[in-house]
Amino acid sequence: MATAAPRPTPAHELSGTTPSVPTSTDVNFQGLPIPRGPVKATLSFYKPPEDGSKPHNYVEPLEGVPQRNFGESLHDVTLNDLRGQEQKFSLNNNAFDTIQNVPSEEYEFQDDDQIKRVYYPEVEKLLLESVPGANRILLFDHTIRRSHPGANRAPVTRVHVDQTPFSAAQRVKFHLPDEAEKLLQGRYRIINVWRPLNGPVMAHPLAVADSSTVRDEDLIPVEHRYPDRTGETAQVHFNPTQKWYYWSGMKNEDRLLLKCFDSDETVGLWGRAPHTAFVDPRTPEGAVGRESIEVRALVFG
Ligand code: OGA
Ligand code: FE
Repeated sequence: MATAAPRPTPAHELSGTTPSVPTSTDVNFQGLPIPRGPVKATLSFYKPPEDGSKPHNYVEPLEGVPQRNFGESLHDVTLNDLRGQEQKFSLNNNAFDTIQNVPSEEYEFQDDDQIKRVYYPEVEKLLLESVPGANRILLFDHTIRRSHPGANRAPVTRVHVDQTPFSAAQRVKFHLPDEAEKLLQGRYRIINVWRPLNGPVMAHPLAVADSSTVRDEDLIPVEHRYPDRTGETAQVHFNPTQKWYYWSGMKNEDRLLLKCFDSDETVGLWGRAPHTAFVDPRTPEGAVGRESIEVRALVFG
């Protein structure tokens, strides 16, 4: 029933009189210090294909075919910690938001049907309560990520936005074909609800850029080729104007809302938050690998 391995007794509780690890309570269930505060890390940005062709990638790797035809450009970026300054950010202004102390009845995250039955309704309720103006939610997808070798999906260490304006509209048509024409005339957003499963996050935290610091020209549409259809995501050019954040020690009760698209261009600047997992140079040796789930939502209203 547990989300993570049974909680081992921290080393400082095992040892007799002299604690052998810091006495700070800011440690995870392994007794390891949680990395916090601003940090410099290397993020992977977009590099165009050498031959000038249009960028694409395959969702399912194909035998003998490179998974993508574009490269990466590494840049050191300062990431500020959202912890303690959560109130400064909102979906409308920055295209991300933080929510704390969210209860959940789902602990296992092993069975897709159970996740849909137990966790989806919780996410739907959370979005209706916390997204200003939202009156209808359609959860269309989720991804569980585990860091161990052989895991189905690992953290993504490339800066991206999950949808472009084109693929956001395509999503509405795909999931709600009969109502799409009407729905596309109103406001629609795509929001990912991200949380760890074995928090606090010690390794591979998620970095997110403030949407208002990211120019449209920095977003490059990329064909996202599924076996049976082609979607579109955005890769991101590095630009020193971009302001980057992460939320230190994210707990299982924390939710990070990432807005990937907003049809209302009058709200804030642009409604999309580039994001990526990153290697935190402060991750203590032996810290648990990050496990997480993101649920993707079409939000109407
Ligand atoms: C997402 C995402 C990457 C990760 O939630 O959309 O890109 O490493 N996640 O969790
Ligand atoms: Fe993403």
